[in-house]
This record gives sequence, structure tokens and C-alpha cells, in this order.
Amino acid sequence: NNRVVIFDLDGVIVDTAKFHFLAWRKLANDLGFDITEEQNEELKGVSRVHSLNKILKWGEVELTEAEFQKQMALKNENYLSYVEKMDQEEILPGVTKVLDHLTENNVPFALGSASKNAPVILKKIGLYDRFEAIVDGNDVSKAKPDPEVFLVAADKLRASAANCIVFEDSVAGVRAANRANMLSIGIGSRNNLHEADYVFPDFTEISIEFIEKILRN
Ligand code: G6P
Ligand code: MG
Repeated sequence: NNRVVIFDLDGVIVDTAKFHFLAWRKLANDLGFDITEEQNEELKGVSRVHSLNKILKWGEVELTEAEFQKQMALKNENYLSYVEKMDQEEILPGVTKVLDHLTENNVPFALGSASKNAPVILKKIGLYDRFEAIVDGNDVSKAKPDPEVFLVAADKLRASAANCIVFEDSVAGVRAANRANMLSIGIGSRNNLHEADYVFPDFTEISIEFIEKILRN
């Protein structure tokens, strides 16, 4: 069997979406407007630059290039103040069971994340050394829904796209996986992620039988 697995990070392995939301919301509030949970859904999987561009559009705010850079830095500083407090307890329920099963069965797995903070988060939660390859926002130039991040991960795993299984919580990420011709497994609501090949509310709903099935297929 030559199947491999690629995991998104934020919203799949850890629930950092709540921290991103708090930090973006503070930025918006400081600029004189607010953002909703619904809008936050559109920010999932989206790179830092693209996220700020979207938020500024929603707030109808225009910034100079220097102010834009400053706001990005402030947002990240605020976000990292939450990341700082993370530990193993933040690994979402059911994730470890799946990673352990893959390791026991010699199925290689990689990270495919838009986040430039992915390495620091993986270290915080003690999973850094478990990934065969880590591809993050520092390694790619095209943001999800562009498939680049997953194609680079496949390359590092020396796997063909058709043999890759991707776990994603964002609409942009599911699209990226589909565009890469990989099997896409959505983690979240069926409403949001209907473009995925399979959708589960979270990893506690994913059985080892299901993992075995997709690895053999
Ligand atoms: C992930 C998250 C996004 C975040 C992006 C960039 O895709 O879902 O909410 O904006 O990564 O993260 P970074 O940590 O580099 O700001
Ligand atoms: Mg995500």
C-alpha cells in the first residue's frame, strides 16, 4: 500500500481558529468595526495577507502599505500570545488515535498548512517530530484554494497526488485538495464542506475501520 496522508493544522489538529478569530476581531475593533463568526468561516485556511485584505474590505477600511504591514505584525503578536499557552492538551479529541494508527502501520503523513506559525504550534503540542514532512506558509507562494501546499507535501512524501488523503476543515482547503486530485476529508459541518469527498464533525467520529477503508481503496 502506498497511500499517504496530509493534515491541515488549524481546525484539524488543534482549534486555533478561535485564537485567530480573537486576534482578527481585536484588529477590526481597533480599526473601528467588528467581524462575525460567519465571516470568520471565510478566513479559515486563508493566508495572513489574504485574510487581512478580506477583513479590510468588510470594514471598508484602506491602509497604506506600511500600516498594512504593521497591522499584520500586531495581529500575529496577539495571536502568538494565545499560542504561547498551548500544550498537548490542545490536540483535538480523536486525532492522536488516528496518528498512532498511521504510525503503527507505516503510513507516512505530512502537514500541509497555510500558517507560518505551524512549526511553533507543532512543537508546543509535542507533534513536531511525528511528521515525515512539514509544509507551511513559509514554503509556498500560492495560498489555498491553490493546491500548491498539498502538491509540495505529496512531493516531499514521494507520493503521487492520487495516493494522497487530505484532512481539512476549511472550504479553501477542501478545494485545494480537490484541485490537486487528492481524496478530501472535511472536518466540520456538512453545510460548509459539501465539496469534500467525506465529511465528519470531528475526529472522534472517524473510526479506524474508516481509516483502513480509505487506505486500502
Ligand atoms: C491557517 C488558518 C488561517 C490563518 C492562516 C495563516 O490556514 O486557518 O486562519 O490565517 O493559517 O496563519 P498564520 O499563522 O501564518 O497567520
Ligand atoms: Mg484549517
